[in-house]
Amino acid sequence: MTHKVVVTRGVFDDVLDRLRAGATVVDNQSDVQLDAGELAARAADADALVCALTDRVDAALLERCPRLKVVANIAVGHNNIDLAACSARRVMATNTPGVLDETTADFAWALMLGAARRVTEAERYLRDGRWTGWQLKQLLGTDVHHATLGIIGMGRIGQAIARRALGFSMQVLYCNRSRLDEATERSLNARWVARDELLAAADFVVLMVPYSPATHHLIGAAELARMKPGAILVNTARGGVVDDRALVEALRQRTIAGAGIDVFEGEPAFDRDFLELDNVVLAPHIASSSVATRRAMAMLAARNALAALAGERPPNLLNPDAFNL
Ligand code: DGY
Repeated sequence: MTHKVVVTRGVFDDVLDRLRAGATVVDNQSDVQLDAGELAARAADADALVCALTDRVDAALLERCPRLKVVANIAVGHNNIDLAACSARRVMATNTPGVLDETTADFAWALMLGAARRVTEAERYLRDGRWTGWQLKQLLGTDVHHATLGIIGMGRIGQAIARRALGFSMQVLYCNRSRLDEATERSLNARWVARDELLAAADFVVLMVPYSPATHHLIGAAELARMKPGAILVNTARGGVVDDRALVEALRQRTIAGAGIDVFEGEPAFDRDFLELDNVVLAPHIASSSVATRRAMAMLAARNALAALAGERPPNLLNPDAFNL
């Protein structure tokens, strides 16, 4: 009997071809976001779910999908999946680490540079017909080169961000649960510091931690108040890591100079007050969105799903206790 795989979002055709070589596939190429009821109805007799961070995989869903062996998330972050609920039902859960590191780091830099040099604000100025001529003090920005970069969350992506800082002659401070080995620190010109020290010293603070109850509102009013008045905050991690309301206030009062934000609390909804602010660069959760990387992510999710269906341990298994030979 062939396995049934439900793919919850639009993906590249070659990803579907790959899945179809090993299973019957129900796709969603029209890419309509499925609500909990629709997702459960589609997945009711599925053996595998290839899903995205927009899908909530919890005990209630798993209850309605008794055949499910694997949930393959097309993302490295997996806060949309209740791992304990998966393990309790011996459903394997997988993610897509590694393939998006460099692309996400590129985008963190795009936000840093965009916010520091006021790129989107300058474009709006030009498009609005407000430019009447060159002025010495026009749209003055902040230098990135030789500044201090603080990275909170120094995993693979954080390190990729730090590597790029070498080309800008920056000093790098980082905080992370565990310290990097000395050779890596040296190669990145990076120093492990306490979070408060980082917040007080960095000209740019980039967040790259996973979302969990422990990182909920990691950056709130108190943390923003510790940052330099000229500092810029970049969130390419997850919505909820920053208290967005506190950030709006800090940007409004200019207690920090600016921000670059790719992820929002409760997205796709977001605090509309951001739209009133010139000192923030906003993006709709696209840090990993290059053609090559999004394809690689979806392909890796397909590989994880097919491996699990073949009785193999998927390469990116998040809950080894659910691996059932
Ligand atoms: C991830 O992989 O977690 C990204 O946020 C997806 O865009």
